Amino acid sequence: MKSNSIDLIISDPPYGINGDKLDRHYNRDESHVLDGYVEVSTKAYPEFSLRWIQEAERVLRPGGSIYIVSGYSQLRHILNALAHTKLEERNHIIWKYNFGVYTSKKYISSHYHILYCIKPKGKATFHTNAFYADCEKSENGGSLNYQDREDVWIINREYKPGQVKNKNELPKTILTKMILYSSNPGDMVCDFFLGSFSTAKVAIGLGRNACGFEINKKAFDYQIKEMDKIIPGELLQDLRQVPANRLFNKGRPLSNEEIEQIVSAFNLLQLEGLSRKQACNQISEKFGRGYWSILNIIGKNLHENKTVTLLKNSGENPQSQEK
Ligand SMILES: C[S@@+](CC[C@H](N)C(=O)[O-])C[C@H]1O[C@@H](n2cnc3c(N)ncnc32)[C@H](O)[C@@H]1O
Repeated sequence: MKSNSIDLIISDPPYGINGDKLDRHYNRDESHVLDGYVEVSTKAYPEFSLRWIQEAERVLRPGGSIYIVSGYSQLRHILNALAHTKLEERNHIIWKYNFGVYTSKKYISSHYHILYCIKPKGKATFHTNAFYADCEKSENGGSLNYQDREDVWIINREYKPGQVKNKNELPKTILTKMILYSSNPGDMVCDFFLGSFSTAKVAIGLGRNACGFEINKKAFDYQIKEMDKIIPGELLQDLRQVPANRLFNKGRPLSNEEIEQIVSAFNLLQLEGLSRKQACNQISEKFGRGYWSILNIIGKNLHENKTVTLLKNSGENPQSQEK
């Protein structure tokens, strides 16, 4: 693969825990699971991780993102391999899932780790409002945007009775989340360990391009044909329309002229009899800037001389305003 050619990598490597024999531990019906899942031995895992993660670093474009899904057992080898690259960790996400393996003499393990990293020296894609506008609230008044961007993801595994699948298939919800936050339509998304091609299917469905690898020939031959059934962009119509962001000027440096407009608007609203809080709320709405940001601007820039000048410019009588 060409260096610097991939915008987003999502990879869920073999777990190095005898994953090819997992059904014996989980006591589950594996009759619909494609056999031939290729596991990596515990002994080979450190070298294996280092080799593929260094390749991932090479093929990612500067600013490109990578999400690596890992169980706890081999996490240290993934972290160690990452430490040998220049990839920068942005988040260590905990994915809490359902159907943890039942244990009676200790706590039940029900989470995976997802390491989200960026290749430096380029602009990273992160769509803060991919799912929720800043102003959207949950039933108890919390910010939905904040909640969706917390680093603990509670997402159930999919239960697919009777369907042909791979062991440990990633849920569509998790893939949609990573792809919408960290890529743009038309971007190239790569999965080094395709399994059931779930990443590729969701990426194409969301109007991205996809590539990747699967060493299990049986899974590859079956899934490559399944790919023909995926219509590019077909999943886009199921996405919820995110309302326009109320705080459209959030984080943007303001010009002196805009600061003067804010201070001037504040003065006028106070003269109309609005409290400080009411005035700031109104200005926040109009200028697309958070309440605290407006209060901060007022605090730093409001002083008598400026007020008088601004009111003079606006044609008001400064004498009456000064009191
Ligand atoms: C945990 S599974 C991936 C599951 C996938 N994310 C899904 O949703 O179906 C890991 C996959 O890596 C494959 N694999 C193991 N070694 C590989 C290698 N060197 N190159 C490519 N694929 C490999 C296994 O056969 C297995 O299908």
